[in-house]
Amino acid sequence: MIEELDQLQTEVLASLETADTSDALTAWYRETLGGKGSVQLMTRKIGSLPVEERPAFGKRVNEVKEALQSAFDVRQSAVKRSEMDADIADGGIDVTLPGRKIRPGGLHIATETLREIYKIWGDMGFHVFRSRDVETDHYNFELLNIPQHHPARDMWDTFHTTTPGVLLRTHTSPGQIHAMHQHYPNPIRVILPGMVYRYEQVTARSEFQFHQVEGLAVGKNITFADLKGTLTGFAHRMFGERPVRFRANYFPFTEPSAEMDVYWGLESETDYRITKGTGWLEVLGSGMVHPTVLKNGGYDPNEYSGFAFGMGVERMAMLRYNINDIRYFWGNDLRFLEQF
Ligand code: DAH
Repeated sequence: MIEELDQLQTEVLASLETADTSDALTAWYRETLGGKGSVQLMTRKIGSLPVEERPAFGKRVNEVKEALQSAFDVRQSAVKRSEMDADIADGGIDVTLPGRKIRPGGLHIATETLREIYKIWGDMGFHVFRSRDVETDHYNFELLNIPQHHPARDMWDTFHTTTPGVLLRTHTSPGQIHAMHQHYPNPIRVILPGMVYRYEQVTARSEFQFHQVEGLAVGKNITFADLKGTLTGFAHRMFGERPVRFRANYFPFTEPSAEMDVYWGLESETDYRITKGTGWLEVLGSGMVHPTVLKNGGYDPNEYSGFAFGMGVERMAMLRYNINDIRYFWGNDLRFLEQF
């Protein structure tokens, strides 16, 4: 049987040398190494051999296969090369044709906006701190001064997992607690970007997932004046030198809390619509870190103070680029994405 195999090897190697076109090579491969080719068929004969001869035969078949495969590879590249040379020689390839344009990908508008935000905060000494998307109720709510059954939980419609107490973060604020645990007792200047999830109806104005950038500064003698000055500086770089104002508000994790508006103007009909006729646009929530939250992060509120803020990234992009429907962001329509 082994002689039969050797004989076959010699024969097919000889026929390989005569295959001088790609088509002939394909046919040769099919007839020898292909599924029903002559070499494969030899493999099947193994069953008809006496048991003690089988290992040697099997080994030899594999050697033959490998030898033929590498002979084939060598032959194939030689044939391809000479076919290409022939094509070029008889003008079959027009080397003066312009190349095909490769269309490079681009950054998603949400990523671009995030990077711009990182840059501005980076220049002000804030570094990026990342924390998890899957959170516990404890971090997402309780440590942020929102106990079970607190009415303020209505502000965040939540995706719960099948594990009790484990959920998709509804905001980036739980990262504040992680950042404090990691930095104690040092001062903190961080921004915490990430995707957040809300169990909400998808409409032109709300999505069930979007990015937020949270900010946290903790240290000694940080005051509300620091909050106002820092956030005003951010707004001027993000939106240009427009007036800003702070409006009192309520968040359970800050006291006092404020929302920041920028003056958009009332020049066009769109300005009227998006500012509801006031000329002012709300851009972020903020406040002085609540003493309970500082304590939960390990910082003594009698010694330390801090401010925090949170903003929606897609919302920023919508304002800056006049995008009127948030569903475009995750709709993956290139006609939208390519505009940026
Ligand atoms: N976590 C709030 C939200 O998702 C946003 C926010 C408001 C964050 C005020 C803050 C803050 O850090 O101080 O609606």
